[in-house]
Amino acid sequence: MKLLLTGASGLLGGNCFARFACNPNVQLFATHHDTSFVIPQRFTNGQDAFTLDLTDETAVWNIISTLQPDLIIHTAAYTETAFCEWNRKEAKALNIDATKTLATLSEMFNARFIFISTDLVFDGTKGNYDEHDAPNPLSYYAETKFEAELQIKNLVGNHVILRSPLLLGSSPRGMRSVNERLVKDFEAGKTVRLFVDEFRTPIFADVLARVIEEFAIGTLSEVTGLFHSGGIERLSRESLGRKITARWNINPSLIESIASDEVLSHPPRPKDVSLNSKKLHSVLPFTLPTLEESLNALP
Ligand SMILES: NC(=O)c1ccc[n+]([C@@H]2O[C@H](COP(=O)([O-])OP(=O)(O)OC[C@H]3O[C@@H](n4cnc5c(N)ncnc54)[C@H](OP(=O)(O)O)[C@@H]3O)[C@@H](O)[C@H]2O)c1
Repeated sequence: MKLLLTGASGLLGGNCFARFACNPNVQLFATHHDTSFVIPQRFTNGQDAFTLDLTDETAVWNIISTLQPDLIIHTAAYTETAFCEWNRKEAKALNIDATKTLATLSEMFNARFIFISTDLVFDGTKGNYDEHDAPNPLSYYAETKFEAELQIKNLVGNHVILRSPLLLGSSPRGMRSVNERLVKDFEAGKTVRLFVDEFRTPIFADVLARVIEEFAIGTLSEVTGLFHSGGIERLSRESLGRKITARWNINPSLIESIASDEVLSHPPRPKDVSLNSKKLHSVLPFTLPTLEESLNALP
């Protein structure tokens, strides 16, 4: 099995790298973008990742036509909502156009294509969204991810789209996940304002990597389509912050609880993008861990 993984230096891509690098049945080709960053050994198991600018269409065509992978797992994206809002050209080039190129090449070379989208495709007015609910992105980031989903559905027969919730866990850069950022702020003695009325169904990146593995080479390797890949608990950002302070023995008074309408946000923040992931949970061959179990398993 030849696997091309994009975004290997990222939070999810790094956890996918760690998972596939130790599988002797997988020939792994992993890409990232920033030449100055070396992915830590604990994620790579000694394997190398190579630099590829996914917005360089010719380079992408050359790599894929040379490697001819059986499977592409595309996690790379501009993921910061504010960056995408103010840098639309760059966001479109990576999140939409590069995804389109990869999808076209997947179809051309008969590769299976696994794409990671986001819970933010929803406007947050309803919550508990399942795969039949209609997206209504509020930010340009979410628009690019939804547009990429539509392109994939049109271009690749053998595709899986996983709509990911907020991701937690350990990242190669050590500062990508919510828990890493919060712990850094708390350890610096900063007070952090967290919304009591903004709800998500977070999942840990290593758990989502395990789900992806099932779709890649496991019991779901023949399954195609759209799946919500939320965790099993719906909670507010504030409750999540409190779980994090408890896990790291941090003074909970560093959390300032606020309501989302106390802050003016542009683009607007969806209130409740909790995902109903029953479709996925019912076909997975394992039970998802609770947030507490995953938090306790972190180093
Ligand atoms: N994080 C979340 O909470 C969350 C929630 C829902 C959905 N998602 C989706 O899940 C996926 C993974 O998110 P993440 O948080 O793990 O991402 P991340 O940590 O922000 O990593 C992004 C990756 O994209 C790569 N990249 C950036 N520009 C590139 C370019 N021009 N060419 C090639 N690669 C480039 C980065 O490489 P360098 O590091 O080398 O620049 C990095 O490996 C994304 O598709 C995101 O939309 C994330």
